[in-house]
Amino acid sequence: MAMPKVTFILPDGTEKIVETEEGKTLLQAAQENGVEMESACGGNGFCTTCACKMKEGQAAIDEEKVSPVNDKEENMGVEGPDNRLGCQAKVIGDITVNIEDF
Ligand code: FES
Repeated sequence: MAMPKVTFILPDGTEKIVETEEGKTLLQAAQENGVEMESACGGNGFCTTCACKMKEGQAAIDEEKVSPVNDKEENMGVEGPDNRLGCQAKVIGDITVNIEDF
């Protein structure tokens, strides 16, 4: 079965497309493929340095692409569905993720 593709939009505006196993977090997908994503709390959902944004409306339109917002994200005040914590959002299907500073 084809692995999901994650397109990361980097801070300089370029894109990096990586393949990852379904169920990995965006943070894992980034780190395993040399994409820089901050993770001050070690991926435990307590810091928001891994905050990222799904390409506009994508998560809302197709919730098959990424796991739903979880309790940790809600506790950190993350407003989904497009805004996510990279360490909590799990990849399901092909998705585009903006990790620009915003
Ligand atoms: S790495 Fe800290 S909230 Fe994701």
